[in-house]
Amino acid sequence: MAKSTNAFTCTACGASHKKWAGRCDACGAWNTIVEEAPLSQGPGRGLGAHKGRAVPLSSLATSEAPPPRHLSGMDELDRVLGGGLVPGSAVLIGGDPGIGKSTLLLQGAAAFARRGLNAVYISGEEASAQVRMRAQRLGLADAPVRLGAETNLRDILTTLDTERPDLAIIDSVQTLWSDQVEAAPGSVAQVRAAAHELVTFAKRKGVAIFLVGHVTKDGQIAGPRVVEHMVDTVIYFEGERGHQFRILRSVKNRFGPADEIGVFEMTGSGLAEVANPSALFLSERGQPVPGSAVFAGIEGTRPVLTEVQALVAPSTLASPRRTVVGLDSGRVSTILAVLEARCGIPFAGLDVFLNVAGGMRVNEPAADLAIAGALLSAREDSALPPEAVLFGEISLSGALRPVAQAENRLKEAQKLGFSQAILPDSQKVEGAGGMSIQRIADLTGFAGEVFGA
Ligand code: TYD
Ligand code: MG
Repeated sequence: MAKSTNAFTCTACGASHKKWAGRCDACGAWNTIVEEAPLSQGPGRGLGAHKGRAVPLSSLATSEAPPPRHLSGMDELDRVLGGGLVPGSAVLIGGDPGIGKSTLLLQGAAAFARRGLNAVYISGEEASAQVRMRAQRLGLADAPVRLGAETNLRDILTTLDTERPDLAIIDSVQTLWSDQVEAAPGSVAQVRAAAHELVTFAKRKGVAIFLVGHVTKDGQIAGPRVVEHMVDTVIYFEGERGHQFRILRSVKNRFGPADEIGVFEMTGSGLAEVANPSALFLSERGQPVPGSAVFAGIEGTRPVLTEVQALVAPSTLASPRRTVVGLDSGRVSTILAVLEARCGIPFAGLDVFLNVAGGMRVNEPAADLAIAGALLSAREDSALPPEAVLFGEISLSGALRPVAQAENRLKEAQKLGFSQAILPDSQKVEGAGGMSIQRIADLTGFAGEVFGA
């Protein structure tokens, strides 16, 4: 009998290796390589049994219009999906355990079902009675959603084939197992096989499918990243522990803009939509204090104002602390280096703590100026004008670079009662809408003009 050769797969990037190693050559991650049994060959379909024939693109254009998208009526969800749910699409929704994925999808399923879609919710983690109890708590006990509690892939596919739903929710992909794969549920091989079968089924039958995936401590969807490549849309549900806010963020979307966010608040009776996130993120702001800067950002297609907070304190450590929450720490190090090298403002010997209020994450380079503003304000112990917002990218030379969508940023700031904006000299602004604008050429100028440093 031929020796079965097991393969080794990196759970971070999906690369396969011949033997185990501590570090993946492909992506450089440590301790991510796991052993998996080879895919069973099964009764092979020979060549020619099932051909996908190519057709001219032009012949498709004239046939049917694309099927309409389904709206749930939950605006925050619809927006993150790219303007409603596309029939036959596959969506992966990842997040930490306990963040509220099941709650969100049960509410979503109920919303779609109330608008006439046939929705099936299959739970591999909770019994149907438990899901029903949750629905009751959410005030959705009478929603026309069908429930199933199954983990066997074949049973699930059979259920879907008989139910013929418009929308199926599989909670979660890590609980599924196929009897054709010799590996434990939750393993790379099982997750990959199950996701592949479900996505193929979804495309063939025109069923929109949501796969729930738990995220590991270091922020990866547990199991293989390969699931991300199989689906049309990848959405993360994030939030800081101790905060009520939850942010739904699309990181990949074949049918709409990526990086779109939806904001929710976890309440005693489920997730409530937050229509005006800027007001929410700024609501924690009190009197003007040193170390606070308001950043006028853009998340996806929507302007969102956030507060960047900094604290700078003398350090007793040989290498002072740099604690960053909600921002890219590499970006923060770069800005600290530019302040030191170009403006002669050292942070050596000082502990630096940076944070975005409200548990929000900001990834835009446009936040550079607000980060520098918060840092300088904390260091100089001098508050920025409370009516001012900031945006602009900082280059390594210390010059400020313009950013996109200045008008939208200013409009949102004005709507929330701000009257002043500090932005790059080179920024073109068509219509400031009554905001007073302070233009800054470079970081040295910024430190001098605003803080007298
Ligand atoms: P859940 O949806 O089970 O999380 P996930 O599926 O991502 O693991 O959410 C569980 C958490 O949400 C739990 O800590 C309790 C909280 N919660 C509320 O605060 N209010 C509610 O109405 C519900 C249903 C849950
Ligand atoms: Mg859950």
